Amino acid sequence: MEAIILAGGFGTRLKPLTYTRAKSLLPILNKPMIAYLIESLPNSVDKVILAVNYKKSQIEEYFIKNDFGKEIIVNDEPEPLGTGGAAKFAEKHISDNFFVLNSDIICSLNLDQMIKFHNKKKALSTISLWPVENVSEFGVADVIENGKIIGFVEKPNQEDAPSNFINAGAYLLEPEILDYIESNKFVSMEKEIFPQIIKNTGKFFGYKFEGFWMDIGRISSYLSINFLLMNQKKINNIIGENFVNKGSLKQCSIGNNVKIGEKTVIESSIIFDNVKICDNIVIKNSIIGKNCSIYDNSNIINSVIGDDETIIKESNLNNNYIWNKPIPEGYPEKQIGNVIK
Ligand code: GTP
Repeated sequence: MEAIILAGGFGTRLKPLTYTRAKSLLPILNKPMIAYLIESLPNSVDKVILAVNYKKSQIEEYFIKNDFGKEIIVNDEPEPLGTGGAAKFAEKHISDNFFVLNSDIICSLNLDQMIKFHNKKKALSTISLWPVENVSEFGVADVIENGKIIGFVEKPNQEDAPSNFINAGAYLLEPEILDYIESNKFVSMEKEIFPQIIKNTGKFFGYKFEGFWMDIGRISSYLSINFLLMNQKKINNIIGENFVNKGSLKQCSIGNNVKIGEKTVIESSIIFDNVKICDNIVIKNSIIGKNCSIYDNSNIINSVIGDDETIIKESNLNNNYIWNKPIPEGYPEKQIGNVIK
């Protein structure tokens, strides 16, 4: 069985971290985001098709160096084709029913259980559903008692919402679904294809699950997933290799080769590899990209520092992001392929 993993987005809401790396390679407790998804795939998935575009060589390199015991195909889109377009572009690798999975969602969904549900319902398409309190930013499923989905409502007012279940970004599809998608065109599975399948076949189901679900689309959720997993593992901090620490840490993820000076306090933050943080510095709720140097007597609160930046002494950053280099060519200003939000 195959799984197509959507990993071709620019991740614009996570800039400047995504100016230099694919979003799916962002470290979560010092392990790339995409590794969590691959590790959650059932044994029945023996082939993984990575639908990539932006920073594809980084992703390819990661999978050359790391073996997950599955065949990995890097399927390079000539340009971002959207969720539907990317699935169609992978058609030649599909032999039977297959998953389409967003690479930026970390959750407790059990894909084996989802397969069982899909087979029992004789569905053409099953999507994962997650309950939220405030539905107004999401695509909300109109789901009836037996799990059948009869429609979606985009970003409804809370009082008009047909349910509190949102599309949680994992799809299990029969190969004939690909017949609905035009080749080599930007196609949104959610906006263009799913409504047609619902209308034409009525075999569209929603699989509800419990536990946790997080869409790592924004800086706030990127920080939160690190804290959530630390809490789950009951650890206070995660520390990489070659750590030299003369300061204090609380709820931090620290990469390799990090040095922290005297009287420096770091809380609820992520520090990437090769970072030097000098003396008498406060860092809270922030992310420091790789190869950065932060000099004495600085405060960095609710901020993100891109890779290879230097923060001079006595800097005060609050709600800021730092990137002093040219923006990479072709990097878009805004989201271009909103998938499920
Ligand atoms: P933003 O620019 O911040 O919205 O991030 P994004 O580019 O990752 O877009 P979004 O969060 O909507 O995408 C959800 C998932 O789909 C991510 O795993 C993306 O990598 C992936 N994705 C988005 N657009 C495309 C695309 O056109 N092709 C492929 N292959 N993947 C895509």
